[in-house]
Amino acid sequence: MAHPPTQLMADSPIKVNNPGDAPAPASPEEQKKMEAAYNQMKRKMAISEMGKAIKHKIMVLSGKGGVGKSTVATGLALSLAQQGLKVGLLDIDITGPNVPKMMGLDGRRLNVEAGRIHPAQGHLGVKVISMAFLLEDEDTPVVWRGPIKLGAIQQFIGDVDWGELDYLIIDFPPGTSDEPLTVAQNLPDIDGMVIVTTPQDVALLDSRKSITFANSLKVDVIGVIENMSGYTVRGKAPAGTELELAAPGGKTIRVTTDENGDWAGTLDIFKAGGGQKTAEEFGVPFLGKLPFDPGFVRGGDDGVHRIVSEPEGPSAIAFNKVVENIQHKVESASNDGGLEII
Ligand SMILES: Nc1ncnc2c1ncn2[C@@H]1O[C@H](COP(=O)(O)OP(=O)(O)OP(=O)(O)O)[C@@H](O)[C@H]1O
Ligand SMILES: [Mg+2]
Repeated sequence: MAHPPTQLMADSPIKVNNPGDAPAPASPEEQKKMEAAYNQMKRKMAISEMGKAIKHKIMVLSGKGGVGKSTVATGLALSLAQQGLKVGLLDIDITGPNVPKMMGLDGRRLNVEAGRIHPAQGHLGVKVISMAFLLEDEDTPVVWRGPIKLGAIQQFIGDVDWGELDYLIIDFPPGTSDEPLTVAQNLPDIDGMVIVTTPQDVALLDSRKSITFANSLKVDVIGVIENMSGYTVRGKAPAGTELELAAPGGKTIRVTTDENGDWAGTLDIFKAGGGQKTAEEFGVPFLGKLPFDPGFVRGGDDGVHRIVSEPEGPSAIAFNKVVENIQHKVESASNDGGLEII
């Protein structure tokens, strides 16, 4: 049965369109609101699509600055790419262009086409998006108000065309800032957080804060990595020679040359084992140690990461072991709801 046209009092603020009425034109304000709601919905859909197209998403954090987060995040991405996996690296740190530098993408600017942001291709085909791509030039410090910065992060999450990826690694500024909070709130199905620390007590104290922070964000802790852990000195002497190395803390390390006359000894220039202790204390996995290697510093300056310049070297091997542990943890977790790493 047809309904009679809806009648309202003449002065009612509610406008009703009856069948046959022309739709009431939207005011410019309403149009703006509708546009914003449409864009928000489009972004949400894009984020949900992206969530499905990227198999694993890993956040890299540290409580303290300068412990090697960006070096580790870049190294993880490259080590995964060496396995032939499709990898993306999202650098959310506006304060410095470290990641683009290590990826040989220094001075790049954001590539936007048809309303989508396209990542740059770094070493080994790793797709890179960096906040540094938004900088005028690297010498001008950026002071962004909080909401603008967080808006940019949301845009980086929703508007980047990553395509299909096996892994997305996300590098952050140090500390328990708004950036990881924004990512954790906006990016679905994050596998977890990797916490980078150095062996010193003060860094460990801060990494404990990061673990508590991860718990408050309800993000799983994949594990702790101890960076700058031990420095290996090498040399040559006649085969079978026994040598004594003076190590920090008044210790002595004995090494013997092999049949080729090569010797190597690892000195704990800071302390050792602290990352493992923190991991045990909090009941989270310890993912391994990465050595102190001056080649990382050179690599940062030359734009060629250590893993690319020396793929068979001790640092690359250490990275590969850490990556194996991460893969074991996240891939077994997505297969059957969580296994402990061996
Ligand atoms: N294992 C290592 N051996 C030697 N040097 C290293 C190692 N890891 C990082 N570095 C060096 O330490 C410095 C800081 O590293 P990086 O920028 O990766 O730290 P970060 O934690 O990302 O810093 P920030 O907190 O400022 O973001 C760089 O010069 C880097 O080359
Ligand atoms: Mg960094």
